[in-house]
Amino acid sequence: MRRQMGMSSPSIHVHDTPAEAAAAVAAECAALIRLRAAEGRSTVLGLATGSTPLPFYAELIRLHRDDGLSFAGVTTFNLDEYLGLEPGHPESYAAFMAKHLFDHVDLGSDRTHLPPGQVEEGDLERVCGEYERSIVEAGGIDFQILGIGRTGHIGFNEPGSPRDSRTRRIDLDPVTRQDAAPAFGGLEHVPTHAITMGCGTILAARRVVLMAWGEKKAEIVREALEEDVTDRVSASFLQEHGNAAFFLDAGAASALTPGAA
Ligand code: GLP
Repeated sequence: MRRQMGMSSPSIHVHDTPAEAAAAVAAECAALIRLRAAEGRSTVLGLATGSTPLPFYAELIRLHRDDGLSFAGVTTFNLDEYLGLEPGHPESYAAFMAKHLFDHVDLGSDRTHLPPGQVEEGDLERVCGEYERSIVEAGGIDFQILGIGRTGHIGFNEPGSPRDSRTRRIDLDPVTRQDAAPAFGGLEHVPTHAITMGCGTILAARRVVLMAWGEKKAEIVREALEEDVTDRVSASFLQEHGNAAFFLDAGAASALTPGAA
């Protein structure tokens, strides 16, 4: 690790590479799962999609395969899902999670949860309320993984998302849809809406770890950590969480003011 800045929250951990940083996050996550399992308790993970958590999931799979890490007592809740994609669409977050984690570890499908991607307008409130209730019934989120969008969003909490927002439908920001366009084969194929956990849902997690890689995230990471807390950058709400951490590679940390944390 290159440097660990201050004792502030969020704590900031800068590693040379995404693989190193993600391995440190996976080690913390695995230790929590093992500790709780030894105490006969389950662990509730909040999971994210996008390219950022890929090395984290790869390391969890390696720990399962080579190091006996079991997910038998783990329950997961994903942050978000696009609305309106046909079931099984390769860009759906359900397909992403199966491909990059669920199909490779001992996590039963009854213990993995994502918001549904197909919901009638009149059913949205009920479905979102049920997602919130199922998190509470599972005991709340112990360990929440986050990436960060270029708009500063966590989950899909686009600018303007209130601090106390809960799971709901969201209009995707044009910047977010543009970023997703290559994966969908063109902007016209990118969904316009998603269901996302709210900022309040995320902030209720007992531990929150945001990962970011590369210089293209440097400015928004700086804003989230160094500017005032604002609903224009939903990741800035993490400044008010008592147990949050940013794990960064050198590129994503490159705009931070030295010694400011
Ligand atoms: C999407 C996801 C976010 C993710 C963001 C960044 O908007 N809903 O959870 O953090 O993309 O994606 P990437 O990790 O590919 O940069």
